[in-house]
Amino acid sequence: MTVHDPRRTVLVTGAAGFIGRHLVEHLADRGQPVIGVDLRPRPAGAAGRHVVADLRTTDIRPLLDGVSAVVHLAALPGVRPSWDRFDDYVESNVIVTRRLLEAGVQTGLRRLVIASSSSVYGNQRDGAMNEDQPPAPISPYAVTKLAAEHLALAYAARPASVLTSVALRFFTVYGPRQRPDMLISRIISAVRDGREIRVFGDGSQRRDFVFVKDAVRAVAAAVDAPGPSRVCNVGTGEQISVTGIIDLISELMGRPANVRVEPHRAGDVVSTRADVTRTAEALGFRASVSLREGLRAHIDAVRSESMPVGA
Ligand code: NAD
Ligand code: UGA
Repeated sequence: MTVHDPRRTVLVTGAAGFIGRHLVEHLADRGQPVIGVDLRPRPAGAAGRHVVADLRTTDIRPLLDGVSAVVHLAALPGVRPSWDRFDDYVESNVIVTRRLLEAGVQTGLRRLVIASSSSVYGNQRDGAMNEDQPPAPISPYAVTKLAAEHLALAYAARPASVLTSVALRFFTVYGPRQRPDMLISRIISAVRDGREIRVFGDGSQRRDFVFVKDAVRAVAAAVDAPGPSRVCNVGTGEQISVTGIIDLISELMGRPANVRVEPHRAGDVVSTRADVTRTAEALGFRASVSLREGLRAHIDAVRSESMPVGA
């Protein structure tokens, strides 16, 4: 038995964002009724209903009418700018999550899938990051993501609660339409245009990069999964350094990369790599797209975006 009835509607917050757009597409492709909500307008070609609303202020209850699961992606997502805008991060990432949970309690919501982040682990000892390790966030952003994750679990644990929460700790997600502030988008457009890539630190920091179509499969699995509330990593179990990925993209694009070294940025963790065991067991999910394959898709998307109309 699944907690979520596949004939019923899934509400996706942050539906006009990078991961949200892919998720709405994926859910609609499997025949799922979807409602998207975002500050931003409906993306071109998006399926289902789309509501433009600010979750900081809008009455959320009417949005939950007939909805059996919510995927909460809406947030302020960047690590490095979070030192300067903490109030905004708290409001968008923590207060909004609480507003959503309160509305969920009032409407009898049964399943919340919330986007958490690998950044909540901070700098752990070497080795894969495992959900049982104590989180140790080192950026204000990560503090807000951990708070939101804990709130979702706390509401689900209230006596007589019908809600179960699955917090997905996404590792660094990439692919077509990735946010322009993120490393891989920046490398691809800089290599294409012959511009410099700014590397924060010596480039030895390592990331577990997960392709967006894999990430949204994990979200769909978490919507469907029976069982209790839990925290699950969404990564590949592999990692590559910033220097390594610059070289790989340059090789795949057949063009040189020009690097400018800048100081290490506060809040940036040294290394991320997911332990994928729990997610495989609990959700039946494993990433399947190789880094080369995913990068080719991302590069193709950036190239086609930049094609002049009629070309
Ligand atoms: P994104 O910025 O592309 O998407 C977030 C969307 O949320 C945006 O479209 C934005 O308009 C919307 N939003 C923000 N505040 C809102 C509000 N008050 N009301 C309505 N809509 C609002 O970010 P993304 O990269 O797609 O990330 C999605 C989620 O996944 C975020 O919660 C982020 O913290 C988390 N995450 C992302 C990554 C990654 O690598 N991209 C990794 C870990 C976690
Ligand atoms: C990303 C997302 O932005 C966060 O929302 C998410 O929570 C986090 O992944 C996660 O894994 O949980 P980040 O890993 O910082 O954060 O992703 P990128 O912006 O792609 O940066 C990757 C690495 O490249 C970082 O070490 C960063 O310092 C470096 N970088 C980034 C540069 O050297 N230059 C740049 O121009 C951009």
